[in-house]
Amino acid sequence: MAIEAPAPVPAHPRSVDELRVAAAGCRACDLWERATQTVFGEGTEGARLMLVGEQPGDREDVTGAPFVGPAGEVLDRALEEAGIDRRQAYVTNVVKHFKWEPRGKRRIHQRPNTEEIRACRPWFEAEVERVKPQLILCLGATAAQALISPTFRVTRQHGILFPSTFGPMIAATVHPSSILRAPDQQAREAAYAGFVADLREVAGASVRRRG
Ligand code: URA
Repeated sequence: MAIEAPAPVPAHPRSVDELRVAAAGCRACDLWERATQTVFGEGTEGARLMLVGEQPGDREDVTGAPFVGPAGEVLDRALEEAGIDRRQAYVTNVVKHFKWEPRGKRRIHQRPNTEEIRACRPWFEAEVERVKPQLILCLGATAAQALISPTFRVTRQHGILFPSTFGPMIAATVHPSSILRAPDQQAREAAYAGFVADLREVAGASVRRRG
């Protein structure tokens, strides 16, 4: 997949909104061609907690906001149970266009590749620069492998705090959609409980910590 142009990140953005406007025209990889729009991060500048998923899904592609579909519903419920107000967090993705392939009338999610993730990275770095979170929490393996280490294993390393090259500490937990894909009710409940525990213990601490 060809990288087409450098991401048009403004040199000295004054706000996340300025970044969002610039990102709307990003052609740094070719995912924009099949996506409805760029789905940029959302939330408060100065948020202590930054949640980072993989890429927008079908619903996010249509609405233009991250984590508003089925995975977002799981995330919202888990955040509430962990005592975290989503409005205190900044929510984004490592890739900001929906990558999909048609299957009948449905658009099926496809995992972004290394080049697409690399092409989108300047946007993530600019978001971190503006938001200045105290903790980045990766949701799922794609974000964790892109932002912590290519060999990261969420099953073994979830909930552990690492120093990051971005400045703030970084950790990972499962992706909320992996909970929806669990094979049965028991597995779903166990995965969800683990997700809430990670949010409470790792992310909750960053939100409660005094700045
Ligand atoms: N999955 C993600 O990783 N991000 C979203 O915004 C929605 C679903």
